[in-house]
Amino acid sequence: MVNDAASFLDNPETHESLDITGFRDRIGDLPHQCLRAWEQGLKFSLPDDYRNVRNVVVTGMGGSAIGGELLGDLISKDGSPLVTVCRDYHLPPYLGSDSLVIASSYSGNTEETIAAFHDAIQRGAKVVAVTTGGQLLKLAHEEGVPVFQIDYVGEPRAALGYSFLVPLAILQNLRLIADSDEAVLEAAEVLLSLSHRLKPKIPTQDNPAKELAISLHGKLIVIYGGGMLSGVARRWKTQFNENAKTWAFVELLPEAGHNAIAGLQWPKPIGKKACGVLLNTWSLHPRIKLRYQMIEELLGKAGVECRTVDGVGKSTLAQMLSSVLFGDYTSYYLALLNGEDPSPVSPLDYLKSRLKDLQ
Ligand code: F6R
Repeated sequence: MVNDAASFLDNPETHESLDITGFRDRIGDLPHQCLRAWEQGLKFSLPDDYRNVRNVVVTGMGGSAIGGELLGDLISKDGSPLVTVCRDYHLPPYLGSDSLVIASSYSGNTEETIAAFHDAIQRGAKVVAVTTGGQLLKLAHEEGVPVFQIDYVGEPRAALGYSFLVPLAILQNLRLIADSDEAVLEAAEVLLSLSHRLKPKIPTQDNPAKELAISLHGKLIVIYGGGMLSGVARRWKTQFNENAKTWAFVELLPEAGHNAIAGLQWPKPIGKKACGVLLNTWSLHPRIKLRYQMIEELLGKAGVECRTVDGVGKSTLAQMLSSVLFGDYTSYYLALLNGEDPSPVSPLDYLKSRLKDLQ
């Protein structure tokens, strides 16, 4: 079965017949996309008074929100302004004229993001839009709000380089954070070499993303993340949902040590069908790393399989993005094993169009 799965994933025909739109190339392009987004973001200037902010809210949903979450995780350590993510119709109560709101929507037509955009304008926040177009572009023009227009064509979740590194560049341009140039260059190099190891041409025996996908096939997936890999863990979960069309959940440490680990016993058939994926990396908080060891032990005792994936690189950014890329490739291979085209997300389209009809 494992051998069958391996030859299935190693056969170019599998990729061509299931991945009709070339999603695999968009995953492989992430290193270059990051560099393009970073260069374009650094050229994007904002009014001087945008510097006078005490907090930053990235508002968006799904693939357009995750970049904000990664940004918050990335800069949480170095005395930078508080960055939070709002995935809702309303912005947090503390928001005001000393806030920077980055409205992030790939399509520009996401109703929650549009509502939050209006909320930000009403509350006198400094607003910037990151989008390809749609309603958000139109509204931003009407309100005189600066727009970073994404020129990338693909699925919103595939535009992560833009949704993550453009807000990072915006904060750097405003001198709200330290310079990230070196980290971005290192991350792009790390991503490039990782992508060479994980791409479809590399046979399963040498390709850890294919191997992981095979061991996750038919399983209920639980991603464990913590610290700077919290948003990354959510990215893994959502990529499994959207690309592989599979059940996947996320548990964050250290919190999971205070509840989730007590819930591994019932229902018994679920434990047998579950597989935990622990996202680790060398620079995580040492107490979180210890907790990983213990969680692995507890999962083992409960008869739940588990696997560990390590981020690579020197900078926090490289460790985060390398883990993201590993997860993206794994979700892609799992999509194929499930007989799915990784690109379309018809339930999302269905929900959006039903809600539109009910306006
Ligand atoms: C689809 C995807 C979704 C969208 C979300 C919001 O690829 O990733 O999670 O990102 O439905 O839509 P946008 O990004 O257009 O605001």
